Amino acid sequence: MSIWYFVSVFLHIVLAAFWIGGMLFLPLVILPEIKQHPDRIALLYKTGMKFRFYGWIALVGLLSTGLLNMYLRGMPFTWAFFSQSDYGVLVSWKLLIFIGILLVSGTHDLLFGKKGLEELQVSDNKNFNLLARWSGRVNLLLALVMAFLGVVLSRGGNFGGF
Ligand code: HEM
Repeated sequence: MSIWYFVSVFLHIVLAAFWIGGMLFLPLVILPEIKQHPDRIALLYKTGMKFRFYGWIALVGLLSTGLLNMYLRGMPFTWAFFSQSDYGVLVSWKLLIFIGILLVSGTHDLLFGKKGLEELQVSDNKNFNLLARWSGRVNLLLALVMAFLGVVLSRGGNFGGF
């Protein structure tokens, strides 16, 4: 295997770490610290926007390096491969779950743009809070499933039983 395969997998893992780490950092580190802060919403908005920017870059990078991993490992891009081989079927699942991540992230970003947070400041809408929390949790869970499938893929794509 060429050095570029290792570089691609390396970048893929770093991007995955950034994406998952960022999703944990907000609820575990930032939110509890700024709970009583008078500028809570502004801080949330600023940190959220920064993560949103890098988060989308990470997602684009994950898709690109993911496909590159496959290519550099010499896997074929054929329908038969994606639907019949262990490796191909797992990549198909990753692509499907990736679409789910894009949908949840897109909805989250649409709802919690500047307008959404301003509304939250005025009305302290409980449904909004709930939706923000749950979309974050679902996305974290999906990302962890992606990481697990990735670990299996890197080792051949066959569970081989428990
Ligand atoms: C949130 C998104 C994603 C996360 C968190 C993620 C995470 C990971 C992780 C942790 C690995 C394991 C690397 C190793 O053990 O060596 C991996 C491998 C892999 N991922 Fe992803 N991944 C994501 C998205 C994608 C996407 C969109 C694709 C699209 C094709 C993809 C394709 C692959 C492939 C093909 C491998 C195996 C590389 C090999 O054969 O060595 N991943 N992924």
